[in-house]
Amino acid sequence: MAHGHKSDEKIVYVGDSRVIKKTQEQRLIPKDYSAYPGKSEAFIPNFLLKEWMVGVVVLVGMLVLVMSDPAPLGYPADPKNTAFIPMPDWYFLFMYQLLKYPYTSGDYVVLGAVVVPGLLFGGLLLAPFLDTGKERRFYRRPIASSLMILSLIACTYLTYTSWSHYQVELKDKNIVPEHIKREEEMHAKKGAAAGGGGAAKDTKKTAAIVAADDPGAEIYKKATCLSCHGAGLKGMPASGVPALLGVGDKHPQDEILGIIKNGKGNMGKQYQANIDKGLSDADITKLAEWLSKQKAQ
Ligand code: HEC
Repeated sequence: MAHGHKSDEKIVYVGDSRVIKKTQEQRLIPKDYSAYPGKSEAFIPNFLLKEWMVGVVVLVGMLVLVMSDPAPLGYPADPKNTAFIPMPDWYFLFMYQLLKYPYTSGDYVVLGAVVVPGLLFGGLLLAPFLDTGKERRFYRRPIASSLMILSLIACTYLTYTSWSHYQVELKDKNIVPEHIKREEEMHAKKGAAAGGGGAAKDTKKTAAIVAADDPGAEIYKKATCLSCHGAGLKGMPASGVPALLGVGDKHPQDEILGIIKNGKGNMGKQYQANIDKGLSDADITKLAEWLSKQKAQ
């Protein structure tokens, strides 16, 4: 034979490919685990290959998920946005909460940030060396089991406390969290795209400043309003500051004056700050008058 095979070699064809079937001895792998009932199977390649198969399936599943539902981008960071409470991901909430207690924050922050987590995770790492008993039933290992149950209870409690604290804070400060805002925006966009719903029409109608040469417009540029509601009256939708374009449709002049004097929701009182900036009472009335003219055209 041209390839130098021994002529007495038995050739077995597997499917279409011509692969020589080797006997167990010829293969450089240990015997199949069935030769050792109840004991083991070869890690390489048998076990590893199976693991890789599972890995590939998980990877493809992940790819499909990511492609069908891309991770949303958050709003750009805005240092002026006071209506934002930074929160860690849920699995770090317990550590976040830990840092709120008097003996783990402030002067003792090293305790909360390094020592306590260090002990916990260090202990976990060292557990195989510290706990060398042969016993496997958890009720026969009181120390390890009670430590574990204690940590579980502590983590659950801290996570829960942290989250409910966050909810209370949101409610107190009247903040709508970003992910909910984004979802609403997305629905609005979808609604607008599907048959030009109300949202799209509204933004078109209120897109322009009315009476830009009014004295009120000049006063607005000097007033505190500018820093939040913006030169174009567009507000900062991402930070919860509404546009003042078209505000005349919502509030008449006296109501706007009331909002300037008393504030509204997240907007503090503005009257005194504007007097301090050098505006007069009459200026503020003119400003409110101009804003009340901001109606959709
Ligand atoms: C610190 C930022 C900030 C400043 C400064 C500010 N506003 Fe506001 N304004 C807001 C926020 C936030 C809201 C939304 C309040 C809410 O409803 O929770 C708002 C709401 C309003 C509303 C109601 C809008 C609506 O759609 O109901 C009016 C009117 C208004 N502001 C006018 C003014 C005027 C006039 C000034 C200047 C004298 C001013 N604001 C200054 C942040 C500000």
